[in-house]
Amino acid sequence: MPEANDNVQAKLHRLEALTQELLAHRRLIIASNRGPIEYRIEANGALEAQRGGGGMVTALLGAARFVPAIWVASAMTDGDRRAAEEADGHLLKVPDNEIYVRFVTVPQSVYQRHYYVFCNPLLWFLQHFMWNTPRTPNIGRAVYEAWESGYIPVNEAIAQAIIAEAKQQPEPPFVLLQDYHLYLAPALVRAGVPDATIMHFTHIPWPGPRNWGVIPEFMRRRIHEDMCCADIVGLQTRGDVQNFLHCCEAMLDGAAVDYQHCTVTFRDRFVYVRAYPISVDAAGLLLFAQSPEVRQYRERLRPLLGEQTIVRVDRSEPSKNIIRGLRALELLLERYPDFRGKVNVLQFLVPSRSELGVYQTYTDEIFELVDSINDHFGDIGWQPVRVFYEENYAQAIAGMTLYDILLVNPLIDGMNLVSKEGPLVNERDGVLILSELAGSFEQLSEYSLPISPTDLEGTVRALHQALTMPPDERRRRAAALKRLVQEEDITFWLERQFRDLMTLSRGGL
Ligand code: G6P
Repeated sequence: MPEANDNVQAKLHRLEALTQELLAHRRLIIASNRGPIEYRIEANGALEAQRGGGGMVTALLGAARFVPAIWVASAMTDGDRRAAEEADGHLLKVPDNEIYVRFVTVPQSVYQRHYYVFCNPLLWFLQHFMWNTPRTPNIGRAVYEAWESGYIPVNEAIAQAIIAEAKQQPEPPFVLLQDYHLYLAPALVRAGVPDATIMHFTHIPWPGPRNWGVIPEFMRRRIHEDMCCADIVGLQTRGDVQNFLHCCEAMLDGAAVDYQHCTVTFRDRFVYVRAYPISVDAAGLLLFAQSPEVRQYRERLRPLLGEQTIVRVDRSEPSKNIIRGLRALELLLERYPDFRGKVNVLQFLVPSRSELGVYQTYTDEIFELVDSINDHFGDIGWQPVRVFYEENYAQAIAGMTLYDILLVNPLIDGMNLVSKEGPLVNERDGVLILSELAGSFEQLSEYSLPISPTDLEGTVRALHQALTMPPDERRRRAAALKRLVQEEDITFWLERQFRDLMTLSRGGL
């Protein structure tokens, strides 16, 4: 595909030139809760670094290939804390990238309240519409304390680290803050480095004002006030942008919202609210999919394929709607006995937030249901569902090269990178079944089979349609999806943000 390669090269050159211009005099500081690397303490006491997990790190590490940056992150593990201590104020280099990490350490009890009480579950559940409101949440003293003695101090500690790095630079930096763990950081960084150009990007959905009503007024107002100290608020979809604007209008006294130009003026500051749909590093991922490591996994997985294989890749996470995916498979095998022994599922499940009871129960339920499906429909020679419960990116990518169907059915999702990674690396003209509430649906709907995530009947029909789809039709859809992902990959995400930052630093968008 010489033309496609030329396009990729042209995009890379454009981005490289833009990055050089943007960062000629000013540094880039990224900040997020989870860092790009995570340290484990091995049995022999040595520190072992591995890549951080989840969609945000996947995307930003893809971006980091092109951009030198300082990356400030929370020390999440004992290994991170030890690495931070041993680094003694120096930055830790990420292998193969021009990324230098500074871990921020706060007392463990403070971090626990931040991550395990306020961010996950409260904010995550609120922003993914996962509350069962007649019963939960109950905002009691624990949540108030988590706000006061968890969320605020962690935001302050991260902001202080950014400010310290910024002060060492000759020019005010570009600061890219990531996600729901850091909604207060724009205001705190602004106070310390008034001339910094600050962008906050939220990787998860932004609900409308009535949904935010689930948490107390002083919390939701402060979140929106502090976000309005950024120069640009970046969100995944146009729908999220509209919701953010509505929220500012509803919650912030004196805010002037311009829906046409997507701006908010608040306390003499001007904030641009923009949609930047995030994606994967297409060129880098295609290379990785051909690497010896991924090839080896592919050969190991090949004997496990059915006549047709459904693949899914998710963190073990209630919003990913894994149980309903399994129920749909159960119904499919019930209704179409011919598929028994022929269609199977490979489920790559990444352990996640397992210290939270809801997540542990959810994982237990997945395994119970898998056992029951395998007992009911399987026999000695055939297991309908096989689960790989581990953090193993190479293996998951190998699995995605082999699917006939990729099932992505989240209840709601900021973007969902699996729905972009899969079509890019798949080698079997596989069909994408995609939830209408995944952020990626705005871009990929035309060539996927859409489902409403709670619609079991619709999911079974979509699975049936995919399993019986004529080869030409599969080929046409798979090729179009691959093209779309390549066209709007991470370079597109970065380029749009960098162009906006550049225009902004020259006086306005
Ligand atoms: C989502 C969030 C990220 C988060 C990731 C993994 O992609 O947007 O901010 O890092 O999930 O979750 P974890 O809690 O393990 O960092």
